[in-house]
Amino acid sequence: MTGTSTEPADNMPATYPPSADFAATANAGEELYEQANADRLGFWAEQASRLHWSKPWSSVLDWPGNAPDSDYVAKWFVDGELNVAYNCVDRHVEEGHGDQIAIYWEGEPGDSREITYAQLRAEVCQAANYLTELGLRSGDRVAIYMPMVPEAIVAMLACARLGLTHSVVFAGFSPAALRQRVDDANAKLVITTDGQWRRGKAAPLKDGVDEALSQPGHSVEHVMVVRRCGNDVPWTDGRDLWWHDTVAKASDEHSCTGFDAEHPLFILYTSGTTGKPKGIVHTSGGYLTQTAYTHHYVFDHKPGVDVYWCTADIGWVTGHSYIVYGPLANRATQVVYEGTPNFPDEHRHWNIIEKYKVSIYYTAPTLVRTFMKWGHQIPASHDLSSIRVLGSVGEPINPEAWRWYRKHIGADSAPIVDTWWQTETGAIMMSPLPGVTAAKPGAAMAALPGISAKIVDEEGNEFERGGTEANGYLVLDEPWPAMLRGIWGNPQRYKETYWDKYSAQGWYFAGDGARYDEDGDMWVLGRVDDVMNVSGHRISTSEVESALVGHHKVAEAAVVGASDETTGQGIVAFVILKSSAGEAADSLVNELKAHVSRDISPIAKPREIHIVPELPKTRSGKIMRRLLRDVAEGRELGDTSTLVDPKVFEAISAAK
Ligand code: WT7
Repeated sequence: MTGTSTEPADNMPATYPPSADFAATANAGEELYEQANADRLGFWAEQASRLHWSKPWSSVLDWPGNAPDSDYVAKWFVDGELNVAYNCVDRHVEEGHGDQIAIYWEGEPGDSREITYAQLRAEVCQAANYLTELGLRSGDRVAIYMPMVPEAIVAMLACARLGLTHSVVFAGFSPAALRQRVDDANAKLVITTDGQWRRGKAAPLKDGVDEALSQPGHSVEHVMVVRRCGNDVPWTDGRDLWWHDTVAKASDEHSCTGFDAEHPLFILYTSGTTGKPKGIVHTSGGYLTQTAYTHHYVFDHKPGVDVYWCTADIGWVTGHSYIVYGPLANRATQVVYEGTPNFPDEHRHWNIIEKYKVSIYYTAPTLVRTFMKWGHQIPASHDLSSIRVLGSVGEPINPEAWRWYRKHIGADSAPIVDTWWQTETGAIMMSPLPGVTAAKPGAAMAALPGISAKIVDEEGNEFERGGTEANGYLVLDEPWPAMLRGIWGNPQRYKETYWDKYSAQGWYFAGDGARYDEDGDMWVLGRVDDVMNVSGHRISTSEVESALVGHHKVAEAAVVGASDETTGQGIVAFVILKSSAGEAADSLVNELKAHVSRDISPIAKPREIHIVPELPKTRSGKIMRRLLRDVAEGRELGDTSTLVDPKVFEAISAAK
């Protein structure tokens, strides 16, 4: 666990209460907590009523809890029916907001597009019509492997409209990673683009789909290709289809039907501590309720007034919940950006904020720290006065970055919402509420109204709020509407991963450490398992280890996450070569880094690889990652008494 100090720096306020002006018009008020405490399920029913239901629910929640044979699969808004895409698009057009901009799309090489809700509806209907013509039916799975182009959002919404379950695969993932996800979900269709812009250059993407599908035995019948870059692409007649020849020519009228509240909306893969990535399953009614609710209150979003920008990629859950579903359900006008923060230069984000008058900006601590490194003069040369709420997500935000963010981006007045949640939780679970909470730099503070979280010890005893400030485990002790409904195809793994640790109590174990401060506010400290957090991306040590061992020169590998000033954690690998590998040269280290990058994704590329003669192991053969982390972070070694050979570190240090 990485500790975060609550001690404010000299002359710095420890808390940042809301301004009276902000509080006066804030969506949230103190009474939201009282209301939820008084009647939790009634509270959620009220939140669900913000959506359009084609059939009302008969009961709010059906939860097996920790009954002897519990599968831990909740049903929210039982028997209710709704169409998620109708809620995100058509509804707003029917209510007279067809001309409101839904998406200001800012493309990388200077392209931009404005898409109104009426246009978005037309495009989603066209895609829904064509996907139906292709024979896709409710329950089928569709893989979406696309950069940040509007068609990616259209594709997701078209799936939602038809009851198809999408599985978005981050376009930075390798063909092997795509294939693994396509196979696990048995996807019938892959939607992709010819290429993606990266720093002014077109990088192929469709080629990766071909590579992924080159080995037979997959479930894919068609590959739909959006033309983005105009680069040449290999083509398989009969299987491959251009979007502009098919979807763009379909009728833009489509009437939709409601689906059960528990109909699977999407699968999203995320790394666990062991084995292959887990397909996290999210359903419709509860998920949309909580994403819309949190987007409304946590960001204080005012439809038709605010311009909202979440800088995530749709390949991650943040993009699903806070670019697509939550904001669109709330009739947001939002910026969707295709490129990177420093192309063509380091002014990019501030130019975009100025251009569109962004008022709510949601990003990750790693990016805030990067901006700090680039210098506050860069944002200072822009008019950022439109900003009124700032958000943070992905990892604990260190107080220094928090203060910098507020001062230099938020004109020393915008509230910062530090939002804790996970792919599994589907939506924000903990956060200050702007206009209500006196926020503390670095603290997610408290569970949102309607959510229940606790910090407990190994046995499940709750720490006293405002008591000892000891580190414990974060648990969610009541079901919540956007909670995952399982791991795709693997109910056993679902139970073991999330519910076994506190099976006696029936609590969800989040995998994070946390503590209460002296006021009883919550601080999330980060993962307590072998999951690393690199720039807000979740990567398991075992995934990187198996990629390294997959290289023909590597005999064994151990990977740890070492703290990193910018990325939160950096990946440090210790590798033993096969005797046939020859000399350990720098070129081999680079080759191994490139290998991991190709095998998984550039985000999993180790920061350092040390070629060592041995790895520290216990008598039972377990690698002592804790000690390797000490080495990687340049600390005194902890307790080495359980090692078979404590001298192993002399050799490791010599090699480092
Ligand atoms: C893990 C979940 C949630 C969307 C992006 C990441 C860490 C996330 C915070 C925060 C402290 C945070 C946790 C969590 N995390 N937000 N505000 N404060 N830690 O989703 O890939 O599923 O990762 O990210 O460790 O378990 P994810």
